Amino acid sequence: MIVFQHVYKVYDNKLTALSDINLTINDGDFVSIIGLSGAGKSTLLRTINKMHDIQRGSIYVDILEDSREPNPNYSQELREYEKKEEEAKALRKKLKALGEGAEAEKARARLLGLSSLDKPSKYSNLKKKRKVDVKTVRGKELRLLRRNIGMIFQSFNLVNRSSVYKNVLSGRVGYHNSFETLFSIYSKKEKMLALHSLDTLGILNKAYVRADKLSGGQQQRVALARALTQEPQIILADEPVASLDPVTTVAVMNDFKTINQKFGITIVANMHHVELAKKYSTRIVGIKAGRVVFDGKPEQVTPKVMREIYGDRIENTENEEAGGTR
Ligand SMILES: Nc1ncnc2c1ncn2[C@@H]1O[C@H](COP(=O)(O)OP(=O)(O)OP(=O)(O)O)[C@@H](O)[C@H]1O
Ligand SMILES: [Mg+2]
Repeated sequence: MIVFQHVYKVYDNKLTALSDINLTINDGDFVSIIGLSGAGKSTLLRTINKMHDIQRGSIYVDILEDSREPNPNYSQELREYEKKEEEAKALRKKLKALGEGAEAEKARARLLGLSSLDKPSKYSNLKKKRKVDVKTVRGKELRLLRRNIGMIFQSFNLVNRSSVYKNVLSGRVGYHNSFETLFSIYSKKEKMLALHSLDTLGILNKAYVRADKLSGGQQQRVALARALTQEPQIILADEPVASLDPVTTVAVMNDFKTINQKFGITIVANMHHVELAKKYSTRIVGIKAGRVVFDGKPEQVTPKVMREIYGDRIENTENEEAGGTR
């Protein structure tokens, strides 16, 4: 959950970019933020991962933290495991005597099942939910917050001269110290995760291509794969499709939808294209001059609401562009 309570953001030049923002974004939401240029959309997004500080009010973000707890069923699981090991041992002996035939087949199948069992662990790895106060968070806790939040930009922000695979693997930097990052010390599991993310986004075949050799749409997919590899709870996207052609735009928006639904990742995206925002999100937030002027379902975005968000000039573009604005 992301909660804004009476949030104000004032830039150094005294410009108030956010005024009294109150918002609650639930886990698994796909929220599009719409509004005119300069309304405060990017500012709002960047306060969530503390790229921008706020002056008044509070922002709370729920994060998941790994925690190792003693496994309460350990001794029972171990007893069962040992019993099955005994059975496997006996079966192996029996198999030698059985030779070939139906009974031997049955024994072999049972043995296969038994040998695929994992040894029980003394500890269970759990994910614990915890609320972070974004306004005051610092140091280790801030790194943890940022690890939980993936970020996607209009300009992709890839390391152009590196391979797609290296770019995607860099989604793991938040899990390592700088020494490990410098020498690219990633675990086998992390490497698999990176490849799996590329596969999810249909660009596994580009893994060893230099990032700048890809088209814009493909680069945005690499950025998405990098965000997925980070295993975040939330993805913030600042105009993720603004520099893509209409066909690629739809493909990338579908990727966002998949990520939202398949992995349950909360998505908060700034969008200029209202029809797209309505089509893909579960919720629309309209911002005008730093204030929330609309918060509701896509189907509640009526022409009247559009005028509230964009002003009266919207009437002229509505017919031509079916509500799409820029
Ligand atoms: N670093 C900054 N210092 C001072 N003012 C800023 C800064 N960044 C943004 N602003 C101002 O804050 C207001 C909100 O800007 P913001 O970038 O959040 O708007 P936006 O809705 O994302 O616009 P766009 O659709 O053009 O991206 C604008 O008036 C902008 O000029
Ligand atoms: Mg912006």
